[in-house]
This record gives sequence, C-alpha cells and structure tokens, in this order.
Amino acid sequence: MKRIIAYFTGTGNSLAIAKSLAEKLDAELISIAQIVKAGALLNADEIGIVVPVYMYRAPHIVLQMLDLIGKTTYLFAVATNGGGMGVVFEQINSHLNKNGKQLDLGVEIHMPDNYLPFGGAMAEEKQQKLFADADQAIERIIASVTFRESKIDCTTNWFSRKIIPGIFFWMGYLQVKSMDKSFKVNDLCTGCGICAKICPVDNITMNNTRPQWNHSCEQCFACIQWCPSESIEFGKLSKGKKRYHHRAVTLKDMMNQAGR
Ligand SMILES: Cc1cc2nc3c(=O)[nH]c(=O)nc-3n(C[C@H](O)[C@H](O)[C@H](O)COP(=O)(O)O)c2cc1C
Ligand code: SF4
Ligand code: SF4
Repeated sequence: MKRIIAYFTGTGNSLAIAKSLAEKLDAELISIAQIVKAGALLNADEIGIVVPVYMYRAPHIVLQMLDLIGKTTYLFAVATNGGGMGVVFEQINSHLNKNGKQLDLGVEIHMPDNYLPFGGAMAEEKQQKLFADADQAIERIIASVTFRESKIDCTTNWFSRKIIPGIFFWMGYLQVKSMDKSFKVNDLCTGCGICAKICPVDNITMNNTRPQWNHSCEQCFACIQWCPSESIEFGKLSKGKKRYHHRAVTLKDMMNQAGR
C-alpha cells in the first residue's frame, strides 16, 4: 500500500510532525512546494497533508496542491497552528468537494506560534509542553489513519467560526502575495543568500548581494525567521522579537522543501 505525507512549512512545526508521521506510517514524505512546481497528479492509496494555519485558513499553495490530488481512497489533513485553527478544514474540504473528493480526517495540533508581528518565540518550557502534547496527538493520528476513521476537528466558538474568518479573509488572506512589501533588510545582512535558498516558492532573488522580494509570497515567514544574522524586519512589527524555528528541522530540510 502506498502512503504519501505532503507538507508545507515556514518554521518547521509542520515538517517536524510530517516527518514523524511519515516514519511511523511508513509513508513517503513530499514537499507541497515541489508537488506544485512539478504540476503532476499525485496518486496513492492514502494521502495526508501537514500544513500551517494562516489567517484561520490554509496557505494558498495548499489549495493549488489539492487540485493535484489524483486517485486515492483515504485523505487526511493535519493543521498546525498557534491556538486558532479557524475554518481551515471547512476550507480544505469545500475545495476538495469541487474536485469530487472529500477530507476523511482533519486534526489540528497546537504548536508554537510563528507569526512574528504578534510576538517572538515563546518560552522554552511552553514550547516543550506543546511538543509533548503534539507527540500524543501524533499517536492518535496514527491510530485514526490505521483504522481509517472519519472525523474532522472544528472550532466550536461561534465568533471564531462565523465572524473572525471573514475579517481575516478580507483584511489579510486576499493580500498575502504582496504582503512581502513589508520585508526590509538592514545593514547586518551578509549577502549569504540563505533566505533566497529556503523560500519555498522562489519569491526571493539576490540583487547585488541583497534579497529582493517579488510579490508571490506565501507569508510562511521562513526568510525572516531563519536569517542567520536576523537582518530582515517586517516593518516595525518584528523589531526586537526573538526569532523561532523548530529545533528538529534544519536549514538543509528547508532547502530540500524548496527543491535545492
Ligand atoms: C502568516 C501567518 C498567519 C498565521 N495565522 C494563524 C492563525 O490564523 N491561527 C493560528 O492559530 N496560528 C496562525 N499562525 C501560526 C502558525 O499557524 C503556526 O505557528 C504553525 O505551526 C507554523 O507552522 P510551520 O512552522 O510549519 O510554518 C500564522 C502564522 C503565519 C506565518
Ligand atoms: S539570509 Fe539574511 S543575511 Fe543572508 S542574504 Fe538573506 S537577509 Fe541577508
Ligand atoms: S518570501 Fe519569505 S515569507 Fe514569503 S514565501 Fe518566501 S520565505 Fe516565505
């Protein structure tokens, strides 16, 4: 039986979980960015996706990838988030429905929040607590996939389901591609090019040893969070905030995601 786990990540939370699931479920691990670049249909008996929540929804690139799902008999999704999954599974499911498919299992996992404008890396003990809870969630997902359960997590709070997703949609989600206009690089930049190499959607080009953002951003925050000299800022909102990425994920993993 062929199983695929497809992932998208900016700071490694989703990749750390995807890696663990792939190992335990004996599945092939594939980058969503590379699936979309290749543009070929994805066929497997079971397909799982592990992705972050952005503005209560799925990253745009994930919707592109859903259109490339071919033949499968069981589809599951894991949405890592900073505490508010919003309508991510409703969105994924309705997108799949347009192609005559449906989501069988949807599980949210609370991980450290990587949205730098709202705050820097959380305290180490709090991170460790979330990782321990995530390990338990992974075991439950394995059992659910093994028994092909049909169950989808959903937000129970009415305001978070019906009001906030709409506000985020009109004020943020639709503008994501050009939000990279807020990225600025300062004089600490060494011109190492790491930001360009790890950008999963090739949105950064090096221009005279300085990064240039080209407005097809996914807002994954990999560039700002992984820059070794912390020389990228998001307007004034990231100044002085501690950068974050998951310890079990390396720069090499990030380059692999981008196909480098
Ligand atoms: C642009 C952006 C928007 C986000 N929106 C949400 C959100 O609506 N709700 C939430 O709980 N977390 C949100 N987050 C936090 C991420 O979903 C969370 O940290 C996730 O685990 C990051 O996964 P990654 O490390 O694989 O990139 C957002 C992060 C970013 C970068
Ligand atoms: S990763 Fe940081 S230091 Fe390296 S080129 Fe990009 S902005 Fe400059
Ligand atoms: S430019 Fe930065 S935030 Fe945008 S997709 Fe690339 S790495 Fe992610």
